Amino acid sequence: MDPLIRLQEVRKTYAMPGGDVQALKGIDLEFHEGEFTSIVGTSGSGKSTLLYLLGLLTEPSDGVYWFRGRQTDVMDDLERSRLRGREIGFVFQSFHLVPQLDIERNVLLAARYAGAPGNGVPLERRATELLERVGLSHRFGHRPVELSNGEMQRVAIARALLTGPSLILADEPTGNLDEENGAHVFELLTSLSNDEGKTVIMVTHDMQLAEKSRRVVRLRNGEVIES
Ligand SMILES: Nc1ncnc2c1ncn2[C@@H]1O[C@H](COP(=O)(O)OP(=O)(O)OP(=O)(O)O)[C@@H](O)[C@H]1O
Ligand SMILES: [Mg+2]
Repeated sequence: MDPLIRLQEVRKTYAMPGGDVQALKGIDLEFHEGEFTSIVGTSGSGKSTLLYLLGLLTEPSDGVYWFRGRQTDVMDDLERSRLRGREIGFVFQSFHLVPQLDIERNVLLAARYAGAPGNGVPLERRATELLERVGLSHRFGHRPVELSNGEMQRVAIARALLTGPSLILADEPTGNLDEENGAHVFELLTSLSNDEGKTVIMVTHDMQLAEKSRRVVRLRNGEVIES
């Protein structure tokens, strides 16, 4: 089976006043549909850069990135943002929820950004179903400030799922959570891959969680040293 994602000799260099920063130095990686991968490595090793690149939020300085057999690095901005809106959901360490909105409205915001409604099911119903799916039906109408950190991250996961993406990218999703909530969020992400066939790529510093993943990609100094 062709991989969902293929990176070939991908480099990312930032031009800085003090000289170039080579964040990624020639990455060759494949990710298959339905796979769950943890990306680990010390601070500054290029994990977030790799994740943002996979999420089409930043472009490689060199090399080729194929998504579903399509070469993304030659696409224009509109094509890239369409692909991102249809196929990719993001989860961040600090949740990025809108404090003034209740959890249903926070989840619904994803549709506005992506412009891609899911499956013909009215979006409000889908948002409600997703919040049930992540175990938050008892928190409808609550705003983020009225939730625990673990609950906020589960709202963010529901939001990432609203448009029915095939790829979920999570940058240290358990970084602000205690062990119990972290384990819960990890189980949720695992089940998206195991039960729903989503491709999940998670950056983490938590080695205990990483070791539970089917696959671990380790970066050091902008290079893959284990995959
Ligand atoms: N926008 C940017 N401009 C310049 N340099 C950057 C930029 N983003 C990242 N870098 C540099 O690229 C390297 C990789 O950064 P990156 O954020 O990918 O690391 P990381 O592995 O995610 O680290 P952490 O575990 O601390 O989050 C670092 O040396 C960083 O300083
Ligand atoms: Mg990072």
